Amino acid sequence: MKIDILTLFPSMFSALTEESIIARATKKGLVDIKITNIRDFSTLNNNQVDDTPYGGGAGMVIMCDPVFKAVESVRTSNSKVIMLSPSGKIYKETTALRLSKEKHIILLCGHYEGFDERIKSIVDEVISIGDYVLTGGEIPAMAVADSIIRLIPGVINSESLRSESFEDNLLDYPVYTKPREYNGLLVPDVLLNGDHKKIDEYRNKERIRITKENRPDLLK
Ligand SMILES: C[S@@+](CC[C@H](N)C(=O)[O-])C[C@H]1O[C@@H](n2cnc3c(N)ncnc32)[C@H](O)[C@@H]1O
Repeated sequence: MKIDILTLFPSMFSALTEESIIARATKKGLVDIKITNIRDFSTLNNNQVDDTPYGGGAGMVIMCDPVFKAVESVRTSNSKVIMLSPSGKIYKETTALRLSKEKHIILLCGHYEGFDERIKSIVDEVISIGDYVLTGGEIPAMAVADSIIRLIPGVINSESLRSESFEDNLLDYPVYTKPREYNGLLVPDVLLNGDHKKIDEYRNKERIRITKENRPDLLK
């Protein structure tokens, strides 16, 4: 899969591309991530990319021209163009699964007051990562890219993708590792006896308990 990220702050993306699982996936050739600076497509003095809003109001709005040109420079017939915006549709694991099957994703990161509305005419989908406002689309783009890349076959052990949070509308069960006792805190006995039927039962019950407690909205 190819992922193009269009941003005004390219250096933020070293956190995504140069560390851990995503860096290894890139080295293995499972994903090809390219970061493009929208400012490089400005034809104005000082590479200006934003201006004041029509109708008044605070902040600066990112202009059409550099964004249209930046998208044009990377778009192919296989591309899906995604704008990050708090006014988009809420991003979920099911969205990540759907997008992990795409060949080419273009992520468009806003900043300041956001994008000129006309930019939506060249966008396939508008995604919000949650009901809060961040200063820019860079962290949302990293969240979306990371969640998609880890689902690409070969990026992580396929066993690790089984019974994760959100599968079957449930959250994940609690996990423990050595030692068996830490400062008086114990690992549940059921996990120590090797009875996998009982372990599965315990884990399923825990998934339901934790989902009821933290995310009752997920339960049908
Ligand atoms: C300060 S925000 C703009 C907020 C916009 N004026 C509003 O109220 O909806 C600047 C940029 O950050 C990104 N952003 C902020 N919060 C986001 C969220 N929850 N999901 C996705 N993108 C977000 C978007 O790319 C947005 O264009």
